Amino acid sequence: MILALETSCDDTCAAVVTADGVIRSNVISSQGVHDRYGGVVPEVASRHHLELTGAVVEDALARAGTTLGEVDAIAVTQGPGLVGALLVGVATAKALAAAYALPLVPVDHLHGHVAASFLAPDPLEPPFLILIASGGHTLLARVNDHGWSEGSIELLGRTLDDAAGEAFDKGARLLGLGYPGGAALERLARDGDPHAFAFPSGAKVPRLDVSFSGLKTALLYKVRDLGEEEADRRRADLAASFQHAIVETLARRVEQALAREGGGSGSRSERLSIGGGVAANGPLRERLAQLVPDLHVPARELCTDNAAMIASAARYVAPLPFPSYLGLDAYATGERAL
Ligand code: KG4
Ligand code: ZN
Repeated sequence: MILALETSCDDTCAAVVTADGVIRSNVISSQGVHDRYGGVVPEVASRHHLELTGAVVEDALARAGTTLGEVDAIAVTQGPGLVGALLVGVATAKALAAAYALPLVPVDHLHGHVAASFLAPDPLEPPFLILIASGGHTLLARVNDHGWSEGSIELLGRTLDDAAGEAFDKGARLLGLGYPGGAALERLARDGDPHAFAFPSGAKVPRLDVSFSGLKTALLYKVRDLGEEEADRRRADLAASFQHAIVETLARRVEQALAREGGGSGSRSERLSIGGGVAANGPLRERLAQLVPDLHVPARELCTDNAAMIASAARYVAPLPFPSYLGLDAYATGERAL
């Protein structure tokens, strides 16, 4: 059994997962204090992690019906993320592991998002393609095996500027919705026409990369051009058209990747999984399911940041024996090309 901690952003998470990927508990404490600032404040996030980790770990163990004495290893997100927030998780994990002389498994956050697809009861076996779209990252990758070594996960495309979730959040802010605004924008868009306004969907961006900066600017100008009253009256149309552009941007890249990876000539035999908070978006799921009828969709709480995905990834990473990890540090940005 693995106890995992994830504190890379503003969710304090702990989970207990068995060696064969069964989730015994998956506790997520969303801080909910950042909305008033319109974004995550790193120092506030770190302080809340400090206050919450102890209780969240205890809760995860209790819900799993187990104790630290029965745990085989402790896993933790080492990076990338907010470094102060990561440090709380890394220090806590080191202390817990050292107290029981347990091995420690440092996990990369992106490996975690991929490994959400390896969890029971519906594990997907590599190779497959994956689209990870969250507030922090947007990438399209080919998963060759379960691990995190060179060649395990091949990056096919990534965002050149904003992450897809960031684009949703910035659009939501322009339309007067709260933070984070992706889900609120999706709700508003339900009453709107996705073809009311033609927003750019990044057709000129090279390779399989995506860009959302032009889209964000287009929405800003459109709102200005319409004027306050008219923009307010057409908020649902603006939201629907904006969402449509993000969905099309992502779907087009997925379609190209499938054609290329699936043996060319538009073959759609490749399997596809999705992850990250934006994977909760209904229209995105529907559009991708058109491309890949048996689209693999992990449960919503496994798509957004959580510790079960970190425990899942840890199953495929060499553990550091006690006490070799005592000097382990967090990293803020990705150490690898991915
Ligand atoms: O994976 P996640 O929980 O945290 C990060 O690692 O960033 O993703 C959060 C992001 C936010 O930008 C949020 O607006 C977006 O996911 N999001 C959505 C939806 N639910 C969450 N975007 C579009 N539609 C949704 N339903
Ligand atoms: Zn994430």
